[in-house]
Amino acid sequence: MWQIIVPILWFLPILSADNPYRFFTWNVTYGDIYPLGVRQQGILINGQFPGPDLYSVTNDNIIINVYNHLPEPFLLSWNGVQQRKNSFEDGVYGTTCPIPPGKNFTYILQMKDQIGSFYYFPSLSFHKAAGGFGGIRILSRPGIPVPFPEPDGDFTVLIGDWYKTDHRILKAVLDKGKMLKFPDGILINGRGNGASFTVEQGKSYRLRISNVGLHNSLNFRIQGHLMKLVEVEGKHTVQTTISSLDVHAGQSYSVLVTANQPPTQDYYIAVSTRFTTKVLTTTAILHYSNSRKPVSGPPPSGPTTDIQSSLNQARSIRTNLTASGPRPNPQGSYHYGQINVSRTIRVANLPGIVNGKQRYAVNGVSFVPADTPLKLADYYNIGGVFRVGSIPDYPPSGRGIRLDTSVMEADYRAFVEIVFENRESIVQSWHLDGYSFFVVGMDRGSWTPNSRKQYNLVDAISRSTTQVYPKSWTAIYIALDNVGMWNLRTEFWARQYLGQQFYLRVYTPVQSVRDEYPIPKNALLCGRARGRST
Ligand SMILES: *[C@@H]1O[C@H](CO)[C@@H](O)[C@H](O)[C@H]1NC(C)=O
Ligand SMILES: *[C@@H]1O[C@H](CO)[C@@H](O)[C@H](O)[C@H]1NC(C)=O
Ligand SMILES: *[C@@H]1O[C@H](CO)[C@@H](O)[C@H](O)[C@H]1NC(C)=O
Ligand SMILES: *[C@@H]1O[C@H](CO)[C@@H](O)[C@H](O)[C@H]1NC(C)=O
Repeated sequence: MWQIIVPILWFLPILSADNPYRFFTWNVTYGDIYPLGVRQQGILINGQFPGPDLYSVTNDNIIINVYNHLPEPFLLSWNGVQQRKNSFEDGVYGTTCPIPPGKNFTYILQMKDQIGSFYYFPSLSFHKAAGGFGGIRILSRPGIPVPFPEPDGDFTVLIGDWYKTDHRILKAVLDKGKMLKFPDGILINGRGNGASFTVEQGKSYRLRISNVGLHNSLNFRIQGHLMKLVEVEGKHTVQTTISSLDVHAGQSYSVLVTANQPPTQDYYIAVSTRFTTKVLTTTAILHYSNSRKPVSGPPPSGPTTDIQSSLNQARSIRTNLTASGPRPNPQGSYHYGQINVSRTIRVANLPGIVNGKQRYAVNGVSFVPADTPLKLADYYNIGGVFRVGSIPDYPPSGRGIRLDTSVMEADYRAFVEIVFENRESIVQSWHLDGYSFFVVGMDRGSWTPNSRKQYNLVDAISRSTTQVYPKSWTAIYIALDNVGMWNLRTEFWARQYLGQQFYLRVYTPVQSVRDEYPIPKNALLCGRARGRST
């Protein structure tokens, strides 16, 4: 639902006026939801759980006026939307002041040079455990070829683990320094069971699957049907046929499914936890409009604890170099494999106890938020909020953990290698705001410089969220071409809350609106930035 009206003038100087504007008003409220059969207070957007899909086309200007009717501060963030030159709009506490209760804030986003499937979510407190999330789709501009026939239907499929416990209680558990128990179930589009997708026999459909859950990697499959993987977080892939798909926390994928089975019955869609000893499974229904019977037979089974098959699938995901992306030129026209890496950053996750409480660290530092968004402190030159260099480039040798508002400095236009090293026995999922990066390698064991020999320097997928398998590593390449303050975080939400994140400050000493937009005129100002002028 969008209206096109005459643009309001104050955001004209920063956005590209030649591209269409789409205006949205979103009311955020608490409301009763029953996803697992018991009543819970969910976070609704315009009365909906999950929230409405955000539809857009490459380069659109998206103006969303968010009214916070919750009795506490609130922010939305936009997973995978790059906010080019515009980290002020990123909607995490390091970049954007919370919307106070009873107030509104108008986000100004541009879907600059992007296509694909993403999602939005509430970033503060432990709100994500109450809903407030929804799908984002950025369609290709007319005339730019998409490397598969237009599907007959296009579904958003939001999957994620879920607790029956109120998000405020979950937060209180974490605040006490305790860990959360295993979740109670899995939701598909906000339902513990009974979500249904109606298809017509012979037609083909795009499913945009995002894992909006708090922690668990999930496996997705459909009884009697194969899927064709076509897009990963904004890149068209080499199309491969798969019978099941692993979707790690925070990740998004598009698959095509053809309704090519006999309409003698409906078919199960099954989603189950990966790498857990107790396996949670939820089903939804692929309903043929002319089916004669409900679903029957057991739901399809999928992989559970096996890691190798997941690693093999991840490595098989490649960019289709000849397909177009957001522009008509081929996605493979940027030869990332021929650029010299100017810096290697090694990032290791580590749990630990600080002052008797459970914390999680990156390179020995467990992130604590400051009283002022870091981006605003930077913009107004407010000292004492954070220190550049408060987190090292390499994991320290000891296992000690300290608390800090960790910010790592990086040079604008540097070409950087980041190696995620997971020495723990659970899977990790890492996300970087503001960017998509090339996933050049992943393997079991410890990373060494020798591991570079196995990097894919030709057609690696470029995305914004990558998994790191237990006792394994994942290496990425990033061209730091987006100035700003960008959150690098685990998508395991309790760990994110307890410090497994930091900010990457992509910096240039020469300030120019060519490289970064000025602070938005309507920016909320809080903490030590209160009272400044925009
Ligand atoms: C949002 O709430 C206001 C009243 O607070 C109402 O007038 C408006 O219609 C609501 N908008 C939507 C899209 O629900
Ligand atoms: C709140 O909404 C009003 C009415 O649309 C708008 O003029 C104002 O800019 C919004 N406030 C912020 C901080 O965006
Ligand atoms: C890659 O994209 C091209 C161009 O659209 C398309 O013709 C081709 O089928 C795609 N190849 C694969 C393997 O997906
Ligand atoms: C990369 O480094 C090599 C060796 O130092 C050098 O010969 C080459 O010209 C560099 N390439 C680029 C694109 O800078």
